Amino acid sequence: MPGSHYQVPSSKFHHSTYSLTDSSENGPEDEEADGSPRLTPLQKLTTSMCKDENTIKELIIGRRVGFYKVRGEIGCGTFSRVKLAFHALTKDKVALKILDKTRLDSQAQRLLSREISSMEVLRHPNVVCLYEVVEMPSRLYLVLEYAGGGDLHNRICNEGKLSDNASKITFAQILSAIKYMHSINVIHRDLKAENVLFTSCGCVKVADFGFSTQIPNRNDALDTFCGSPPYAAPELFKDECYQGPPVDVWAMGVLLFFMVTGTMPFRAETMGKLRRCIIDAAYTVPPWVPGPCQRLIKGILKTSPADRYAVDQMLGCDWLLPVEFPWSLVPSEPTSSLQSLIDSEPWGLEEEEEEVRSSLEELGITEEHLRNNQLKDSRSPITGVYRILLHQAQKRRGCDSPPVVRGMVRDPKREGLRAYRGLRHTSKLCVLS
Ligand code: ADE
Repeated sequence: MPGSHYQVPSSKFHHSTYSLTDSSENGPEDEEADGSPRLTPLQKLTTSMCKDENTIKELIIGRRVGFYKVRGEIGCGTFSRVKLAFHALTKDKVALKILDKTRLDSQAQRLLSREISSMEVLRHPNVVCLYEVVEMPSRLYLVLEYAGGGDLHNRICNEGKLSDNASKITFAQILSAIKYMHSINVIHRDLKAENVLFTSCGCVKVADFGFSTQIPNRNDALDTFCGSPPYAAPELFKDECYQGPPVDVWAMGVLLFFMVTGTMPFRAETMGKLRRCIIDAAYTVPPWVPGPCQRLIKGILKTSPADRYAVDQMLGCDWLLPVEFPWSLVPSEPTSSLQSLIDSEPWGLEEEEEEVRSSLEELGITEEHLRNNQLKDSRSPITGVYRILLHQAQKRRGCDSPPVVRGMVRDPKREGLRAYRGLRHTSKLCVLS
């Protein structure tokens, strides 16, 4: 309701009780030359946040949020803005999604709650990572992994369709992310090119879980129309309940068509005509699209969800056969099939723990801090540091490297630059009556 002011119920968006102190005492070897105690980076930061006039001013005016120094805006949505920020201790870049709690109606609050819960359970190299949640009286900040390579929509609008190899590499990563999400019963419900981000090294990160939901059983019926109409599956226009996974699969078919052709499969001047096109699955794949890719598109864009390819059928398709993921963090397997790598744990967790512990120690974060802070609690700044350092360690191990296509020689020059002038697709949400 425009103009009305809500306080987000504290039961939903609680402040957590975390501790930034430990019981260690400074010994003489921990002293500066002038006899004052030598402070750890963490102690220096927390001291300046309490005592330094400039730092306090920055915290008040929003130039700092928790442990983060805030910079310019990098995006905006219906209820949020996204700004670039840096962690004051680790210096890592992050994306700060800022939500004005006073502008959220009860439905937006519910969606935000779901966005946070979905992101809290998601850990995958192709899904934007949630590092921390910072809550202020009127604002909520989601501290997210930064993907600095732009989004797929802008890439195609500016540079034209992707080459066949680039499409395979991009699509395989989206597929990997979706297979993982569905395996833990998270349905994205707003897959579109604007929500497919790239890191600076070309790794895909699926973003924006604002319409996502985690359901008890994967095939439970859903009844909320979410997402962007050009990506919406036919069953979403039928005022009936629908199953989650086929809706994400359909959107992936639209994405794939967009990647390989630079145009959208369903276009119309009015919503009514668009709806008709989608319900009739009235699209034409250009004849120059390679046969294996055409077959994949046709297997996905099937009107009936029951006939539509399942994620595993997509994984096994001919078009993706030559794709190899580099996550061979899985010991003794140099590179293996897409399916087996996706099924295995891509994060080599234990190996990184030690590395992270020693970096934490250098910053002044002790075992006691870790014991006092539930590292699963996103509302603790200690969790934020921990997750950022863990991600750094994983990136050093190649977790954020995109897959390769067997036999492909990388061409630094981009090809197929066909201009595409399209509108950004805005997400619409309405509840079926
Ligand atoms: N815009 C929205 N989310 C982003 C992210 N995680 N990284 C970079 N830009 C973004």
